[in-house]
Amino acid sequence: MVQLSPSAEPVRVAISARSIYDELKRQIGTGIFGEDGSLPSSRGLAEELGVSRTTVTTAYEQLHAEGYIEVSQGKRPRVVRTNRIAQPFAEGRVQSREPRYSSFGKRVAMSPDASAAAPTEMIADFRHGDLSGEDFPVLAWKRAVTDALREQRARLTYLDPRGSKRLRTALQGYLWRARTIRCDVDQIVVVNGSQQGLDLCARLLLDPGDRFVIEDPCYDMAREVFSATGAIAMPVQVDSDGMKTTSLSGVDAKLAYVTPSHQFPLGGVMPMARRLELVEWAERSGAYILEDDYDSEFRYDISPVPPLQAIGSFGAVLYLGTVSKTLSPSLRLGYLVVPKELSQGFARAKMLADRHTPAPQQEALATLIEKGIYEAHVRRLRRLNHERRETLLNVIRLKFGDSAVVEGAAAGLHLVLWLTGLPKHDEPLLVDEARKAGVGVHSISPLYNGTEEGRRDCAGLVMGYSGLDGRSIERGIQILADVVRNLESGTPPPGAVGPGFRGAALC
Ligand SMILES: Cc1ncc(COP(=O)(O)O)c(C=O)c1O
Repeated sequence: MVQLSPSAEPVRVAISARSIYDELKRQIGTGIFGEDGSLPSSRGLAEELGVSRTTVTTAYEQLHAEGYIEVSQGKRPRVVRTNRIAQPFAEGRVQSREPRYSSFGKRVAMSPDASAAAPTEMIADFRHGDLSGEDFPVLAWKRAVTDALREQRARLTYLDPRGSKRLRTALQGYLWRARTIRCDVDQIVVVNGSQQGLDLCARLLLDPGDRFVIEDPCYDMAREVFSATGAIAMPVQVDSDGMKTTSLSGVDAKLAYVTPSHQFPLGGVMPMARRLELVEWAERSGAYILEDDYDSEFRYDISPVPPLQAIGSFGAVLYLGTVSKTLSPSLRLGYLVVPKELSQGFARAKMLADRHTPAPQQEALATLIEKGIYEAHVRRLRRLNHERRETLLNVIRLKFGDSAVVEGAAAGLHLVLWLTGLPKHDEPLLVDEARKAGVGVHSISPLYNGTEEGRRDCAGLVMGYSGLDGRSIERGIQILADVVRNLESGTPPPGAVGPGFRGAALC
């Protein structure tokens, strides 16, 4: 054991004017001081580093003499504008070594990089999950957050890990009105978006070697979070009615993850008979079902079907909802409704993860729901997205005619576009060519679990439309149609199936 004598001085690394100069020069190169370019005041930095002000001033004078910063009386020094362009981080002081991950860490680090690429300027990006900034109720949200901050208590403390009681009460009413879900307030856990709900379920319900049922194709972020626990995926094929529940007979799994309101990505709405079959299987086998109801607010040509949570009577279903499709994916707000006997475990796990979801946002959402603003906003958004969907379907019909098949457009905020004249191995080429032409499209293939059983034998794209206006949708599809036509008529890329593939219906 290390013995510290009572008089032990904290260890200090000597900091010289030279080392401050070197480090600041490097930081200026990496663009650390941002657009504004302001460095800390010499007094402030001297205090933070525990050196004399003269030491910092000497470093600043040298940077000034070499033209890196400009100084003016009474103001903080600023990086000279031409130096504000970030260079890649060049010299690292710390030598890297082999990572020594846990087995969980190894599984996570090995999985493909799922971090959302920063959106680039394009004529149209059909990325699923984006919403239009113009749809966000800025004023109502601003007012609600300001009210929440004004009503902040005198003493700032950690709150209930399950979330604000006020929000959970508001959600309890909303879930019954919108989805006929009946639950106690204590069954609701407010989470940082569905993704944290998935993560909590994975940690609490799966052990390494356990099996989980997953739709094929599926939401990749769910598959990855469950696989990261060391559990084994059991893909079950999906058709136009969602998961083929007959395939479940005899399947032994701890958890089944499903998207019955609008299967992701194929868009099927699971009929009642399958829902009953699924719930019966879970009740019989002792498995839990995780029902991801991510975009059920958006139904266009169909009447609502009760969620699985409202069907089962033995507490087999965990229900997951989010405001990522109704307000913004960047708010990171979602909710889980868990069976009563799991509520304690989920509260503890949420506390260990991050104590609780930020309070002002929770209170603001509670205000919107209590005042009826949220539901009015959802109705408005449903109309707007209905219009976007109509525009998209019309222009697809016009530009592609018989050479495309659309699937899963009756609900939600995306559809699947199958390009019947392009082989599926052309998807990466199509995505690349479309991007070069200014249109973002996204391949369906990575969402399959490897088996591709029942998959159409042609290229497929998952087309989100909630982030785009009508004009961009039209332009984007026109350009995409040109790109597809060029690929269909051009020289077959390596691996294509010969001359016969051009324009022929593959699926
Ligand atoms: C199937 C599915 N579930 C959930 C979500 C939303 O996730 P989150 O609430 O973490 O933003 C998405 C987003 O695209 C999704 O496709």
